[in-house]
Amino acid sequence: MRVLGIETSCDETGAAIYDSEMGLLAHTLHSQVAMHAEYGGVVPELASRDHVRKTIPLIRDVLTQADLSAQDINGVAYTIGPGLAGALLVGAMIGRSLAYGWNVPAIGVHHMEGHLLASMLEPSPPEFPFIALLVSGGHTQLIKVDGIGRYVQLGESLDDAVGEAFDKTAKLLGLGYPGGAALAKLAENGDEKRFHFPRPMIDRPGLDFSFSGLKTFAVNTAAEFGLDEKTRADIACAFQAAVVDTLIIKCRRALRQTGYKRLVVAGGVGANRMLREHLAEAMGKEGCIVYFPRHEFCTDNGAMIAYVGCQRLMAGEHAGLSMQVFPRWDLEGLS
Ligand code: KG4
Ligand code: ZN
Repeated sequence: MRVLGIETSCDETGAAIYDSEMGLLAHTLHSQVAMHAEYGGVVPELASRDHVRKTIPLIRDVLTQADLSAQDINGVAYTIGPGLAGALLVGAMIGRSLAYGWNVPAIGVHHMEGHLLASMLEPSPPEFPFIALLVSGGHTQLIKVDGIGRYVQLGESLDDAVGEAFDKTAKLLGLGYPGGAALAKLAENGDEKRFHFPRPMIDRPGLDFSFSGLKTFAVNTAAEFGLDEKTRADIACAFQAAVVDTLIIKCRRALRQTGYKRLVVAGGVGANRMLREHLAEAMGKEGCIVYFPRHEFCTDNGAMIAYVGCQRLMAGEHAGLSMQVFPRWDLEGLS
């Protein structure tokens, strides 16, 4: 089966074609980051309008890249939540209409399920069961994954998501939006010994997280020591180290608690180099293997949506003719 996947849940338009036999045939992405940067965050109406402009040209691009025409597509998948309502509607409307016009089945996909299974696009994908660490701009979750659609949430952030904490701290340090990658770069020049940020909630049992205190700690440190170039780098370094340590401690706890031996990282913060290196090393000591999607499949993309859509369509699921999007939608609500 060959599935066209469309992603428009936030500020990235993605399109891809996934083939159940041959794997990923083509994928492309348009990022709106530059457009939203001057507002310091995503402007929902601008996002929707840009998806309107970009989605169909990107679908044409992936068909050309894969040297296919519309008749070669056997199903269409599109993100229906969670995300920005208007943005989701654009991709869902285009995807549902194309499926109708091409007379093939359609399927709405949960954006976080896409992230969760993005590692399946890699040459050595993980086997089930595994623990997933979902770290994006909107979510921080530890999930027990026993198979496709079999998800149990073990823990989540009680306040800011990790990506959000990165972005807010980056803003304090005068970096653009979204600032996660820029903060990580700045941290490379920092002195890791100068400041020590707390590791939130590690002395409490359970697998929940809290990251808003780290941002406050950064604000207070900046108020005391100023924001000269060296101090900015030192704060970035201390902040990143605290986040990475905290995530490692909770992942280790989740693996020990379940006895699972595989950890899969997903979501935009999964692109963080320090997290990738330290997590692989620490989990290796536990006798566990860590799986990461390649950088471009950590952040939003159409490939993960095409993959999930293909699995669900092959399992016999498909959407009816009516169309609905779900801006707020728990992963556990998926059957
Ligand atoms: O998964 P994603 O693309 O979008 C959501 O669904 O949220 O994640 C975006 C988040 C942003 O907060 C961004 O700052 C963060 O991922 N991010 C990073 C890095 N690259 C992206 N955070 C830390 N280090 C990075 N290298
Ligand atoms: Zn995402």
